Amino acid sequence: MIDDPVSMSVDQTPTEQPRGHIRVEGFGLRYPTLEGEVEAVHNVSLHVRPGEFVSILGPSGCGKSTLLNALAGFLTPSSGSVTVDDEPIRGPGADRGMIFQHYSLFPWMTVRQNVEFGLKMKGKDRSTRALAARTLLGLTGLSDFEDQYPDRLSGGMKQRVGIVRALATGPRILLLDEPFGALDAQTRLIMQQILTNIWQQLKISVLFVTHDIDEAIFLSDRVYVMSAKPGGIKAEVRIELDRPREPSISNTAEFVALRARLMQLIREESLKALGGELNADALKGVSINLAGRDFSQIV
Ligand SMILES: Nc1ncnc2c1ncn2[C@@H]1O[C@H](COP(=O)(O)OP(=O)(O)OP(=O)(O)O)[C@@H](O)[C@H]1O
Ligand SMILES: [Mg+2]
Repeated sequence: MIDDPVSMSVDQTPTEQPRGHIRVEGFGLRYPTLEGEVEAVHNVSLHVRPGEFVSILGPSGCGKSTLLNALAGFLTPSSGSVTVDDEPIRGPGADRGMIFQHYSLFPWMTVRQNVEFGLKMKGKDRSTRALAARTLLGLTGLSDFEDQYPDRLSGGMKQRVGIVRALATGPRILLLDEPFGALDAQTRLIMQQILTNIWQQLKISVLFVTHDIDEAIFLSDRVYVMSAKPGGIKAEVRIELDRPREPSISNTAEFVALRARLMQLIREESLKALGGELNADALKGVSINLAGRDFSQIV
């Protein structure tokens, strides 16, 4: 746990208002390819209020990473606008921390050096960097590993260091692209609780991309469901479950109802993403016809 004076040292400036208001209006992105332009995202509008936790759920290839990369400043919109606190995004910035789908720590730096990297780039002195790193590593239970190199850490630990590194520069916004996708179910649940604890303490805005419906419900204030390629917004669902949330919340009637609703919304899109010929009825009828022959005669 950290107390207020220490959290202030993590380069947060609580007097600034507003903080971390994401607005995406009519966003479209076309990738140039050898065969011409490919439309990855079409006319997406969404927002994240300061301090809100919002998730994006959608089938593979619908443009979730594309949208997050535009918010991080790595891609420029082909149409529409993407702003933070009414300022258009013109490139990467320390106000936005990004955690990628795959671990992205610097392997030649220790855990502490990884966490301090962004602060060093910002010209922070040694003692400020050390205090921020120690505070954040403590918050995520990593104090004992600060002198280890990333290849000695488990996947969950690497992703925790990734979160800590993204937080160290005091961003207004945290962008997470399926950060827990490679983790086992139990580690994933623990990571979700760690992330919620950090979010509640630092009061930053979070946009979280996931395939996992339960994860989206457990973490979020609101969930956007994206449609299949080219991705657009299909639905917006409010998650009005009390906080703090314990993993057992997934057994409550409210949670089960939200899961059913989101599952229905996303199933249609996932089938579309798999190919035009697949629909729910076709799947029911899927059978393997061996035409009276033995399997060994065929393979
Ligand atoms: N550099 C690129 N050039 C051309 N097309 C691209 C490029 N990057 C992504 N795409 C295409 O844009 C679409 C959206 O990709 P994106 O990675 O944003 O999807 P996603 O929703 O994050 O998928 P996943 O859930 O599998 O991570 C996909 O059809 C993809 O093939
Ligand atoms: Mg992706």
